[in-house]
Amino acid sequence: MKSELTTLKANTLQGIAEAKDDHTLKQIDINILGRKGQLTDILRKLKDLSPDEKKTVGKLANEVKTDIQIALENKQKQFANSELEKSLNEDWIDLTAPGKTTQTAGSIHPLSQLQKHVEEIFSEMGFSIMDGPEAESEYYNFEGLNIPKHHPARDMQDTFFLKEKHSTDGGRTVLRTHTSPVQVRTMEKYGAPLRVIVPGRVFRYEATDASHDSTFNQVEGLLVDKGISLAHLKGVLAQFLSRAFGQEVTVRFRPGYFPFVEPGLEVDFSCLICKQEGCRVCKKTGWVEFMGAGLVHPNVLKAGGIDSEVYQGWAFGFGLDRLLMMRHKIDDIRHIHGGDLRFVRQF
Ligand code: PHE
Repeated sequence: MKSELTTLKANTLQGIAEAKDDHTLKQIDINILGRKGQLTDILRKLKDLSPDEKKTVGKLANEVKTDIQIALENKQKQFANSELEKSLNEDWIDLTAPGKTTQTAGSIHPLSQLQKHVEEIFSEMGFSIMDGPEAESEYYNFEGLNIPKHHPARDMQDTFFLKEKHSTDGGRTVLRTHTSPVQVRTMEKYGAPLRVIVPGRVFRYEATDASHDSTFNQVEGLLVDKGISLAHLKGVLAQFLSRAFGQEVTVRFRPGYFPFVEPGLEVDFSCLICKQEGCRVCKKTGWVEFMGAGLVHPNVLKAGGIDSEVYQGWAFGFGLDRLLMMRHKIDDIRHIHGGDLRFVRQF
């Protein structure tokens, strides 16, 4: 049995030394050390030997097993190393190749670009930029603007009410339906004289179509000073629109109704598409409806803590989305917040 073991060892080690690949090594492993392998066979026969023989032969058998295992492992390592060496030699990376683009740079949304432009124009005319909360108290959105509860004028603006009571006055909380609530907030905070614009997001509970969205953007304007008249408003608006469109624009006033101004106005500007010849955009009138405006109602000045006997003012509010649509001939307001990159990337 001893000679059987030494021959097996010699043959196996030779086989391992001559092996050309990993697969051959695995085969040897199975044939010799596996469950039905040659060495396993011999070990199984140990039980038939006398106790003395068992001792010496058993010891030898274990040594043979360990030697074979070590030889297998060493050869396997050798194969793995040469594999690595091969890939180090053959595979290569071109460090000078240009990188692959996986991220594209973002850009400023067209609406934000226009808002910035509007802010610049008004800033240069001495206006400050104000901000106010989107979740507004019912008071600032309505009562403070001379729109009492149950007044039919409330129906002009369909409103989203939030479940939470307003944190400062405990009244109802609304998603502001216009930027006008910031008029009273600003008067309370800074007093007269004042010259501000308020760009901001507003919300109305209404069905959407190509020219209406439930979320849109307005720019409020408010000027309070002594000896103020509508002539100043007309001048400021003509100046603003001419700069925004990069060409001479004229402005026309029509009577309109808003509870927080008296007199109230609808403001139109000259149609830029047809140069006032009459077209589809201006419905053949030569004028495009643009915004609401008027002289600030004395009740609103009072709500803002300003003495209407001493100060007068005017206010306006226009839709920033509408202005963007006119500027770029966008035919559906829903594109603006639609999040479609094919739309946004055009600007
Ligand atoms: N807040 C009004 C609206 O949303 C617009 C407006 C503002 C009218 C200021 C007059 C003065 O319709």
